[in-house]
Amino acid sequence: MDILISARHLTKIYGEGPTKTVAVNNLNLQIKKGEFVAIIGPSGSGKSTLMHILGCLDKPTSGTYFFENKNVSKMSDSQLAQTRNKKIGFVFQFFNLLARTSAIKNVELPLIYSKVDKNQRVKKATTLLKNIDLGDKLASTPSQLSGGQQQKVAIARALVNDPKIIFADEPTGNLDTKSSEEIMKIFKKLNKENRTVVMITHERHIAKNASRIISIRDGRIISDKSGKSIKLAKT
Ligand SMILES: Nc1ncnc2c1ncn2[C@@H]1O[C@H](COP(=O)(O)OP(=O)(O)O)[C@@H](O)[C@H]1O
Ligand SMILES: [Mg+2]
Repeated sequence: MDILISARHLTKIYGEGPTKTVAVNNLNLQIKKGEFVAIIGPSGSGKSTLMHILGCLDKPTSGTYFFENKNVSKMSDSQLAQTRNKKIGFVFQFFNLLARTSAIKNVELPLIYSKVDKNQRVKKATTLLKNIDLGDKLASTPSQLSGGQQQKVAIARALVNDPKIIFADEPTGNLDTKSSEEIMKIFKKLNKENRTVVMITHERHIAKNASRIISIRDGRIISDKSGKSIKLAKT
């Protein structure tokens, strides 16, 4: 069995005393390579906090987290940064693109951090943008693109280092229905190509695009189900 993510008794507590918040509460979770998982729950249920831990952006207060069989709690900050840059792609609700920077440069950015040379960067970023029908928007800045197009650029950026897993936090939260559907098509295609996708949403119809739906409330998993009509990932 190819386990990519394995969390045991994961707990994240913010603050102390009267302001103490248990955002993730003794949560156990395993995700296999090739799964398309949706994490669904109301606002404040701990979805983003969980994603930050699973995406190696933050460490839990207690519990253990293994990414690719490596104990993340024991990684140094530079090992964490390297894991994030090389193995994980992030997609956010508000796209998080550099504002006055062209689509192609935005996509190239993670490759600049990985010290890939200019020719290769341009080639890779161009291919990724062409693959999602943005071949004619390479030079456009975010303000010249629609929300859906900006999110596509963000997805291309997330893919540029060929990550093992994509984490998306409310990727359609700021998009109209048609753009949301296009983004879901892209995630499904990526998953078909054997990429692991973990998508956070509070919308059930968006979650239904996944092959597994995990519901969380108050930092705990309250249900964990395979979605209908979608094939289960092979392991
Ligand atoms: N940096 C933080 N400091 C203090 N409390 C936080 C912080 N981030 C999140 N929280 C709290 O943790 C809980 C879970 O938040 P979050 O993970 O953002 O939930 P969701 O993404 O499901 O809306 C909420 O009660 C929120 O107010
Ligand atoms: Mg959130």
